[in-house]
Amino acid sequence: HDPKVPKYQTSDPTSFAFKSARERWPAIITGAIDDVHRTVASLPASETEKEAIAEGKSIVAALGTLKYELQHNRVMTLIPYDGQGDVESYNAELEARGPPKWHDVEWLFAECYLYRRMATLFSTAKTGFWQRYDVFQRQKMSTFRSSRPAVLELAGRYRDILTQIRTSRDHGVVEAQDAQQEKEAEKLLFVEMAEVCLWGNATDLSLLTSLTYEELQKLQGSQARKDSEAKVLVNDLGQAFEVLYAAAHQAGDPATAPAPSRRVDIVLDNAGFELFVDLILAGYLLATGLATEVVLHPKSIPWFVSDVVPADFAALLTAMQDPRAFYTPTATDGDGAAPAAPLSDHDAALVQFLFDDWSRLHADGQLILRPSRFWTHAGSFWRLPHTAPAVLDDLKESQLVIFKGDLNYRKLTGDAAWPATTPFATAIGPLGPASGVRTLALRTCKADVVVGLPEGKDEEIRATEGGGGDSGARAWAWSGKWAVVQFCDGKV
Ligand code: F6P
Ligand code: MG
Repeated sequence: HDPKVPKYQTSDPTSFAFKSARERWPAIITGAIDDVHRTVASLPASETEKEAIAEGKSIVAALGTLKYELQHNRVMTLIPYDGQGDVESYNAELEARGPPKWHDVEWLFAECYLYRRMATLFSTAKTGFWQRYDVFQRQKMSTFRSSRPAVLELAGRYRDILTQIRTSRDHGVVEAQDAQQEKEAEKLLFVEMAEVCLWGNATDLSLLTSLTYEELQKLQGSQARKDSEAKVLVNDLGQAFEVLYAAAHQAGDPATAPAPSRRVDIVLDNAGFELFVDLILAGYLLATGLATEVVLHPKSIPWFVSDVVPADFAALLTAMQDPRAFYTPTATDGDGAAPAAPLSDHDAALVQFLFDDWSRLHADGQLILRPSRFWTHAGSFWRLPHTAPAVLDDLKESQLVIFKGDLNYRKLTGDAAWPATTPFATAIGPLGPASGVRTLALRTCKADVVVGLPEGKDEEIRATEGGGGDSGARAWAWSGKWAVVQFCDGKV
């Protein structure tokens, strides 16, 4: 069910897979060891915690073993059964592949296996404490805290836009001659919100190993987005807007009644700031009526460091409910950043406005969280019709399915070495034309695979500084500085 084109491999020195397996994954496991160690050290040495402390220590040891196996290029071992059916498919695939060694294996499979194996160390724990533990949670919240300047800037923009929408709605019926203007205005805002949502993906934690907090904050501001416009190599947002607008106005005619249910799905990527901007887009779509329902798809286990699990959604809302407590000057999560100044009344009210809006949408059932184990399988989305037909059928109900981020893009395209000019609709295989699913990928490039580029573009960027030159590597696509926004109308 996978594409026939060769996949990126950890053995290929020209692929980012090579660096990932040798440099980044060991660093990520080390971070997890430090986190568990810190938690163990913080537990009171009481009788009740004794078991949790002992178990925490054995998880540290098991993480150490995993890191050793990875760094010494050992065979990838079977995952112990933890009650979830996907273990069998991981293990069947391991066996079918050899089993492979860490430094000579398909990149996508190995990276998913890494996080799945880490998750098992917790899900097979005896103590409830570790069963529920998210080893990346501390990092996710701390990065969100350091995104404060951008959070406040966007919160202000969001409140202004929503107030505007509500006021114009209160003014009643739009005259026909104004309708075109209003459509244009709506489109401009849609593009702005979607671009906010796109660039929110540039700052995920698996890349943060090489970014300072100052760089992170620079990446998130509105000026940064303006400067980055030329970095969006393909931008199909106009097409996505047209389909949503047509559904909201029945074939684009503002005089006719809209389709009663207009659903948009977001296959989420990262927690914290990126989830915050996803909710900005979701809230905007619901406020304008471009959607009547937004379904969010999180992961079921801690994944690729920063990906959203349901608890991250709750943690974000809790932080926003009491922003003063969240941004208290002493709360730094030990990340070494200087404590921030207390929040002003004005800023606290802004954040609370968003909290009220989003928690109401959630309570009203317009903003829905729908986890599925499929999103943490090892395989690409090419396998969707075969391994998760129910998920596919569900996505068909949506007007538009937005796939956020790099990993989702790798999974859409099968993480295969397609020529860069391959049409997006071809590279997404079973989700392409006539699939019944309308796809929009919002992706900042952090891996090798890129499709849908105009002839010569890849070569042109490779020739720029840091672009990879004639090394054979598409190095420009690894840094998150370039992006693609690609649409495929699978419903046509
Ligand atoms: O490029 C390194 C990497 O870990 C990829 O494996 C993964 O696709 C990406 O970073 C994570 O980025 P995102 O959070 O945008 O999916
Ligand atoms: Mg991610």
